[in-house]
Amino acid sequence: MRAFPETRLRRNRRTPWLRAMVRETVLTPANLLWPVFVTAGAEPEPIATMPGVVRHPLAGLGAIAREAASLGIPAIALFPNTPGELRTDDGREALNPDNLVCRAIAELKAATDAVGVMTDVALDPYTAHGHDGLVDAAGRVLNDATVEVLVGQALNQARAGADILAPSDMMDGRIGAIRRALEAEGFPEVHLMAYSAKYASGFYGPFRDAVGAAGRLKGDKATYQMDPANAREALAEVALDLAEGADSVMVKPGLAYLDVVKAVAGRFDAPVFAYCVSGEYAMVEAAVAAGMLAREAVVPEMLLAFRRAGAAGVLTYHAPFAARLLGA
Ligand code: PBG
Repeated sequence: MRAFPETRLRRNRRTPWLRAMVRETVLTPANLLWPVFVTAGAEPEPIATMPGVVRHPLAGLGAIAREAASLGIPAIALFPNTPGELRTDDGREALNPDNLVCRAIAELKAATDAVGVMTDVALDPYTAHGHDGLVDAAGRVLNDATVEVLVGQALNQARAGADILAPSDMMDGRIGAIRRALEAEGFPEVHLMAYSAKYASGFYGPFRDAVGAAGRLKGDKATYQMDPANAREALAEVALDLAEGADSVMVKPGLAYLDVVKAVAGRFDAPVFAYCVSGEYAMVEAAVAAGMLAREAVVPEMLLAFRRAGAAGVLTYHAPFAARLLGA
């Protein structure tokens, strides 16, 4: 590159049309996936640690699906707040064909088929102890026994009509086991989005409030979720999940792990998604409420950063806000 004054990089920033012409990355509503919490109650329930987000009653989900469709948001990710009396040590409510998430799938599907329905495969909304898997007497989270239940949970969601199954449990081997079961049971078209590089993060706190797991969790999830210190290990997780039959992979949380998003996107050809999680949403909203940041400025800037790092899309609680802003 020539030095100044032959090179004046400001020449390319002079006008809006010029900036648009040289822009390297775009963010559109198609890049936004919308996580939605569901309650068995009849009224929307505010979540104290996620201002502006509510748990939606089943009867409200049709409107949510139509809103997503009109905004150009491609998919909704469902997260149920299972009633406390249905949470057991074995998480068996996850296998109930009439459970909250299966009924939520039906509500979304009845409203529109223009929006994909994504479900979470993990046991934490169903277990009394709040772990994503089965736990033995010593408190260890069991891998292979958990995978068997996750296969049943995945099939239950596929039978209810889910388009995308997203295992977020971090057990070893679950993608392969779920893929084999989907093929064997007549669901060859169901998309598996693996939470491949999911870190044991403090940023999930508000989500655990939202799904009612916060007060229950004994210990932490460090024996199955990844150590925040590791990036190379994320590549091994992604390689295994793709080899086992994942259609896309995810990195989670988001902003603090953009190096991992970039490394995964650079190494693999599969679409990579990122989850801008509940704690990240809460940080922005707290700063906005305190008058410290402007939501219209920082939300699109954050979401664009995921695209710049190589993400095909972002799961974000700001999806409807951002889609509206981008469409305006
Ligand atoms: C659990 C699950 C979690 C999130 C998505 N699925 C929390 C956890 O692992 O404890 C977090 C999402 C968020 O914080 O927004 N299976």
